[in-house]
Formats: sequence, structure tokens, C-alpha cells
Amino acid sequence: MSTQETSAETEDAQPETEPAGSSHQDRRLQEKRERQAERDQQAEADAEAEATENTVQIKVFRYDPEVEGKQEPRFDDFHVPFEKGMTVLDALIYARDHFDSSLTFRHSCRQAVCGSDAFFINGSQRLGCKTQLVELDDPVRIEPLPHQDVVKDLVVDMQHFYEQMEAVEPYFQEEDLPDAENLEEQRQDPENREKIKMSSRCIWCGACMSSCNIAAGDNEYLGPAAINKAYKFAMDDREGEDLKQHRLNILEQEHGVWRCQTQFSCTNVCPKDIPLTEHIQELKREAVKNNLKFW
Ligand code: FES
Repeated sequence: MSTQETSAETEDAQPETEPAGSSHQDRRLQEKRERQAERDQQAEADAEAEATENTVQIKVFRYDPEVEGKQEPRFDDFHVPFEKGMTVLDALIYARDHFDSSLTFRHSCRQAVCGSDAFFINGSQRLGCKTQLVELDDPVRIEPLPHQDVVKDLVVDMQHFYEQMEAVEPYFQEEDLPDAENLEEQRQDPENREKIKMSSRCIWCGACMSSCNIAAGDNEYLGPAAINKAYKFAMDDREGEDLKQHRLNILEQEHGVWRCQTQFSCTNVCPKDIPLTEHIQELKREAVKNNLKFW
């Protein structure tokens, strides 16, 4: 049987196989829908290809005191291929891995937990791993945290920050240590836990300290992170009144809570949304109450 005969038969048979109500117009409509679906698919693929080809420009602060010719601070430009969902940290890693292996910055967890990749991004303290490139104006300017000594490129010296944290005794203490044989779990009631919940979210990234004008002008100021850490323990009911007083004494010193001018810059940049300024204000109130004497 020839092909012509087969197609003639098929065409002849077609009207019989079409469901009732079907017509030439229906077929045209169906074809039209299929063509539209194809066009949509193609447009989606084109958009994806275009997005992959897109690049984002990052301007990265560079400084290396140990290499001749790099001791003068400067900015290097990198054009990084952009993909949906990309963070500033992703862009930095790409630039380091593909363009300049000497580009130096800290990072670890890539999920806003370790606190090691706080940078000054487009004029604000942010975590590189939590900041989406799509949220930022191009070019993206990445600098080390202000008010800290730069060790190399985006790495700053955190020693002073850690010393301030250490100064508030950031660990749980007890007035009466239970004897070794009667060790018991130290339970905290749910309301008290709720009260200190936000303060316990600190990841020691240093963004708040870097944003604080007071800390910039007073190197001895404890700073928002350390005061928040002290808040966590001062408000913990399990420590007892004497220890609370001890903690308030530390916070009341000349470079303690009273230096805060309630500018809210620390609260604004905290990547964990800790109400730092509120905590400092509450400790000020506690300090006043602590000093009131009634006769
Ligand atoms: Fe750990 Fe960003 S890499 S907080």
C-alpha cells in the first residue's frame, strides 16, 4: 500500500473519529494552544539563559600589608556570573576561585550561624551569606567592617571585640554550687526563657559594634554585643540576686550602658534581629533600680 493511499484513507476516516461537536475550528484552537505553550517554554528557556549570562560587578576592598605593591588600599573590580539566589558571599567565593586566589575573607557556615562573614556591603554592616545580590544596587561595594583594624582585604582584627565580650563574664554562674553528688539540672521557667530568648541569638559577628558611633569614639565602651551578652545572664533568674548585682556593677561602669545614646544603629544592622538598644535601655532601668535606696 502506498503512503498516498494511507494518508487519503486517514483523512477520509478522520471525521468519523472526531468526537461529537469537534470541528476544524477546534483543531485550529488546539494547535494554537500548542504553539503558545511552545513559545512560553522557549521564552522561559531564553530568560534562564539570559540570567546565567548576566554578570554582577563587585568592587572589593583590597589591602595586604605584607606584599609589596599591595600596601596601598584599593578596590578591585570583579564581574561574577549571576544566578538566582546568589549571595554576596557566593560572589566573593566565585571571584576568589576564578579570578584571584589571594582575595581574603572569612566565612564558614554559609547560613548565618558562625558570624564570620560580616562585611560593610553597599554602606551597611551585613552578613555576606545572608545578603542576596538581587537586593543590592550594582556595582556591589564590599569593604571590611568599619572601626576595626584591617588585617588583610576583608579580614579585620576581632581581638578587641572579643576582649569586650570577655569583660562581661559571658558564662553562666551560680551563687551556690551544688555538691558533686547532688548535681541537678538547672531548670529555667518558660517565661524567663522567653525573656532572654532573643539575647541568646547573638553570633558574635561584630556588625553592631562596627555600626556604633559611640564605640568608634570610645575604645573602652563595652559595646552593644557585650552588653547584650550581659543582659542574657543578668536577666536569667537562675543566677540569683547577688550575681545580678555583680553584673549590673560591671555594666554601670564609666564605659558601660550609660555611654549608649540610643541611636539604634546596632539594632538596625543586627543580622539576627536582636533588639539590642531595647536590652541596653532595660539594663539602664535595672541599674537605676539597683541604686535606689528606700529608707
Ligand atoms: Fe557563617 Fe555567614 S558564613 S554567618
